[in-house]
Amino acid sequence: MKLTRMTAEEAASLIKHDDNVGFSGFTHAGCPKIVPLALARRAEKEHEAGAPFKVGVFTGASTGDSIDGALARANAIKFRTPYQTNNDLRNAINTGQTDYFDLHLSTLAQDLRYGFYGQLDVAVIEASSVTDKGEIIPTCGVGITPTIVRLAKTVIVELNRWHPEELRGLHDIMEPANPPSRREIPLFSVRDRIGSESIQVDPSKIILVETCQPNEGGSFAPLDAITKRIGEHTADFLTGEMRQGRIPQTFLPLQSGVGNIANAVLAAIGNNPGIPDFEVYTEVIQDAVIDLLETGRVTFASGGTLTVSNPCIKKIYDNLPVFKRKMILRPSEISNHPEIIRRLGIISMNTAIEADLFGNINSTHVTGNKIMNGIGGSGDFTRNAYISIFLTPSTAKEGKISAFVPMVSHTDHNEHSVKVIISEYGVADLRGKSPSQRAQCILHNCVHPDYRPLLSAYLSKGRTGQTPLNLDTAFSFHTAFLETGDMRNARI
Ligand code: COA
Repeated sequence: MKLTRMTAEEAASLIKHDDNVGFSGFTHAGCPKIVPLALARRAEKEHEAGAPFKVGVFTGASTGDSIDGALARANAIKFRTPYQTNNDLRNAINTGQTDYFDLHLSTLAQDLRYGFYGQLDVAVIEASSVTDKGEIIPTCGVGITPTIVRLAKTVIVELNRWHPEELRGLHDIMEPANPPSRREIPLFSVRDRIGSESIQVDPSKIILVETCQPNEGGSFAPLDAITKRIGEHTADFLTGEMRQGRIPQTFLPLQSGVGNIANAVLAAIGNNPGIPDFEVYTEVIQDAVIDLLETGRVTFASGGTLTVSNPCIKKIYDNLPVFKRKMILRPSEISNHPEIIRRLGIISMNTAIEADLFGNINSTHVTGNKIMNGIGGSGDFTRNAYISIFLTPSTAKEGKISAFVPMVSHTDHNEHSVKVIISEYGVADLRGKSPSQRAQCILHNCVHPDYRPLLSAYLSKGRTGQTPLNLDTAFSFHTAFLETGDMRNARI
C-alpha cells in the first residue's frame, strides 16, 4: 500500500491535548525534529486561544532541542520520562511546570509494554529509509523505537535524507517477550547480532513526513588538567587490576557514561599502553570511541546511539562500510540490559554529582532538590557491572562545592553497588571495606585538600555503630552552600 504523506504541521495536528507521545532516538541522535517543532508551534497557538495543550513525552533518553527544548518553551509537556539534559526543560521540571519521572533507561520499553504509563497514542520517529511495506531503518540512535511503533495507534515517520540510506546493517533490533514468556537474551559477546536490521511497522499506521535536517550534536570540551588526571588514575587502576589477575589479560568490555568527563577518561584509557585493545559495550558512543575505533585501540563498539559531534558523524558517514563492520546500535532495552551487563563482565564508568564518605552516590540532584539530568543508564550498569567505577572532580564551581560530602543529599547508587570512586587526587577502592574503612579511604585518596580537615572532623564526631554517621551535621556542607554559597563555611 502507498504510505500516507503529510507536512509536519498536518502530522502534528493529529496529536491531541493529553496524548502520550513516544519519540525515537537517544540523546540528540535519532530524534525527529520538524514534527516536534510543529507540535510546539501548535501548542503555543492553542495556548494563545485559551485552550489547554500538553502531552506526555516518552523517549529513549535525552533528546535534541527540537523536542525537549521547543516543547518545554511552549509549556507543552505535562509528563516526561525517562531522562533529559535540556536547560529549559530542567527549569520547567524544577519549577513544577512539568512532572518528571526519573527512570532507569533499560526499563522504559518494558514498562510501556506492561501498560504502567497508560496507552501510547502517537509515535514520532526519525528514519533513514522506509518502504511501502512499513520496513523502517532508524538513523543514528535507537532508544525505545521498536516498542513505541508497535504500541502507538499512529506512527509519524520523519524520513530524514540528511542521513544516508545505506545505514541498513548498522542496527540490531530485538524486543524481548513479556513475562511469563520471556526467555534469555542470547547475546554472549559484544559483537553478537540477535535481531533484525530493521523495524517492521503496520504500514496503515504510518504518516510519512519528508525532511533533510542536520543532527543537533554539540561538541566536547577539550581535556583539562583535572579530567586528564582522572583519566590517568582510571587507566592506572585498570592496569593494576590486570597485573593482580583480577581483570583477564584479554581485558573486559567498557561502558562509559555521558558527558565531558566520560569522553576524556575513555580517551586516556585508549592512550595507556598497559591496556590491551578493548571492546566497548555501552549506551552512548561518544567521539572518543570513534577516534579509538579508527586507531584500532577499540576493536568493536556496541551501543544504543552515536552521540557524536557533527564533524564526527560526517566522518562515520563518509566511511560507513568500515564503521558498520566495527559497530552495532541496539535498542536501549538491550544496550542497558542487566542480564547482558553481568554476563559480559562490563566495567562501568559513570560520573557522579556528589559522593559521600560511605560510598553512596548522587548522580542527579543538586542540593537534594533540583534535578540536573537524571539517572540515565548509570543504575543499569552500576548495579550489574564487573567493577562499577564513579568518576568526579573533587570540587565544582571554583571549589565552592565539594563533590565529597558527609552524606549525599540524594541517593541514586548506594554503598552496596559502588565499588570504586576516582577523583583527580586518586582512587578509592571500596571493595571489601566496612563503612569506617571506606570513609578513611575516600578521605585520603579522593577529597580535595581544602575539605579534608572538615570531613576528618566530621568523622571524628561520628556516632558509634557500623556507620559513623552524625545526623546533626550530616547536611552541614549543603546547608553552608545554601546559606553562604560556599561549602568551606560548613560548621561541623
Ligand atoms: N553540585 C552542583 N553542581 C555540580 C556538582 C555538584 N556537586 N557537580 C557537578 N556540578 C555541575 C557542574 O558544575 C556542571 O555545571 P555547568 O553545566 O553549569 O558547568 C554540571 O554539573 C556538569 O558537570 P561536569 O563536571 O561538566 O560533568 P559532566 O558533563 O560529565 O556531567 C553529570 C556530570 C553527573 C551531570 C552527568 O554525567 C549525568 O547526568 N550523569 C547521570 C546520568 C548518567 O550517569 N548517565 C550515563 C549512564 S550510561
